[in-house]
Amino acid sequence: MAEIRIRNSNERISGEHNVKSFLEKQEVLYEHWEASKLPAELHEKFKLTDEEKAQILSTFDEEIKDLAARRGYKTWDLIALSDATPNLDDLLKKFEQVHTHVEDEVRAITAGKGIFIIKGTDDVGYFDVELEAGDVISVPEHKAHFFTLMENRQIVAVRLFIETEGWIAHPYEDATFQKA
Ligand SMILES: [Fe+2]
Repeated sequence: MAEIRIRNSNERISGEHNVKSFLEKQEVLYEHWEASKLPAELHEKFKLTDEEKAQILSTFDEEIKDLAARRGYKTWDLIALSDATPNLDDLLKKFEQVHTHVEDEVRAITAGKGIFIIKGTDDVGYFDVELEAGDVISVPEHKAHFFTLMENRQIVAVRLFIETEGWIAHPYEDATFQKA
């Protein structure tokens, strides 16, 4: 279950109802998949073969197609990041910059943890959404954000796209943004 931390006040929001209603006000989609559908050996596996990736995608085929039909996604893939990923530190440095996209950014976490840092409405400011397996999130187009790993540095997630070109980030310069 996702948890929110509002950076300005350090307030934490937890519990499905509270998280969902906070994210709804911020126009961030939040849904849930049954992560336990995955075979047990894939719950904590972050270095995946192509066969295992295909197996994960097929486990959630119904959920993926349902989300795609409702929201217009045309392609999807699976990413796995961990200390086994070559150049993980360089990748994270690239990730950890506030940016926007012309389409929404959807992630369904199937294993591990991750965190979206999102620029909310003026009264809220930046907030963190800490995600775990089963959490599905979509950050709307043009909403400033970035994504990174948590302390365990391990995640597997399904990404869905409307445009087949995939993930294009536009840097978002924001003097008010403070790291941490
Ligand atoms: Fe992004």
